[in-house]
Amino acid sequence: MTRILTVGGGGREHAAVEALHRSGAEVYAAMSTANPGIGLRAKEVSLVSEMDVDAIVDSARRWGAEYAFIGPEAPLGAGIVDALQEAGVACASPTRAAARIETSKTFMRELLDRHGIEGNLGYASFDSLEEALGYVREAPYELVVKPVGLTGGKGVKVQGEHLLSQEDTEAYVREIFEQGIGGAGVIFEERAVGEEFTQMVFCDGKTIAAMPLVQDHKRAFEGDVGPNTGGMGSYSDSDHLLPFVKKEEREKALRIMQRIVDAMRGDGCPYVGVMYGQFMLGRDGPKMIEINARFGDPEAMNVLPILRSSFTEICVSMANGTLESEVNFEKKATVCKYVVPEGYGVKSVSGKPIHVDERGVKDSDAVAYYANVFLKDGVLVTGPSRSVGVVGLGDSISAAEGNCEKALEHVNGEAIRVRHDIGRPHVIDRRVEHMLKVRGG
Ligand code: AMP
Ligand code: GLY
Repeated sequence: MTRILTVGGGGREHAAVEALHRSGAEVYAAMSTANPGIGLRAKEVSLVSEMDVDAIVDSARRWGAEYAFIGPEAPLGAGIVDALQEAGVACASPTRAAARIETSKTFMRELLDRHGIEGNLGYASFDSLEEALGYVREAPYELVVKPVGLTGGKGVKVQGEHLLSQEDTEAYVREIFEQGIGGAGVIFEERAVGEEFTQMVFCDGKTIAAMPLVQDHKRAFEGDVGPNTGGMGSYSDSDHLLPFVKKEEREKALRIMQRIVDAMRGDGCPYVGVMYGQFMLGRDGPKMIEINARFGDPEAMNVLPILRSSFTEICVSMANGTLESEVNFEKKATVCKYVVPEGYGVKSVSGKPIHVDERGVKDSDAVAYYANVFLKDGVLVTGPSRSVGVVGLGDSISAAEGNCEKALEHVNGEAIRVRHDIGRPHVIDRRVEHMLKVRGG
């Protein structure tokens, strides 16, 4: 049996652990709070901070882990893969240097520029407040303002959406510098217009293998309003495209990702692991919004339940540089809705009881993945982050959506909510119409 260490305790990691378990791995899990779903599947668990590289390496040694798969980005930025490799553990995740593709937005933009890779956007980055403010006053286009470093997906503000005046923009830039948000200055990007989609791939440093396309919903409330969150839910279609994305457009996105992988290899910094590409599909094709050095959360919960190939073998082949370019997924649509605590996105109400009837969920042709919930005095309670991801499967998006809603009836608790509109026909139609408008001009 292949002994695999996993790091992370969210819904994304629960989905990864299920897929490893299903494909015969012996899983050893390091996570900061005891995810009950992961606990059930893991041979052993170590409750440690995901940033405590030394403690995790010690556990890996004690367990005799042969391979490791890292869920979240923060430990990648702290060099967990480099430390595990030094301890003789082969990793299906990127080194600290390769993870810069996510941990430094400037690194990503410059890499695309230097190698002439299509899909880049205009950008300018600054580590001085005065120069940054000077740029804001003369910017040639509408801007998106981002801290350069990691902010847990919540540091991005868009002119015309969150920043409604020049003063708003300047105030946010000051805040980034004065509060040290992201820790590495600011990057301004040209605002791209269109519809967003996620293309994730497996990668072994050289070869990529594509996963189905997914669309996430970052805004907290129905109708895509409210603050940006880590993601409230997501869907994928049975043909592995999305209703507003053409096959050639997806192929272009994959070409961009392959070129990034080639460029990193050529630069002596090969990328191993799951690579997440966030694209904005506009009139002249997909533009690169961001790259993450890991699975998306919730997007992992859409693709992993329909993964037909062995996830254990995929991890082993990523780590060993022997990945095949074809990975098989069932021809099923998926709709994932995250049950979150009231107030999530602003200030969560947490510590409330929540109950999942797993039998009822399964009978609805759905899966539930535990996220930020844990047992307290024998009762499952919510933490401040997202609670449980419920994924409905079906032959069409609307069938999957119906199954997801049926399954949600089996998740009950106090002070929780769901964005029910995700995957519903009117929301999808709106996206398709928007795309037609963007294309037609
Ligand atoms: P990120 O954390 O970089 O994914 O950004 C969060 C969200 O901000 C994205 O999902 C987009 O909706 C939006 N966004 C980020 N960068 C851009 C951009 N250059 N143009 C338009 N929207 C963007
Ligand atoms: N769902 C967006 C992310 O994982 O970054």
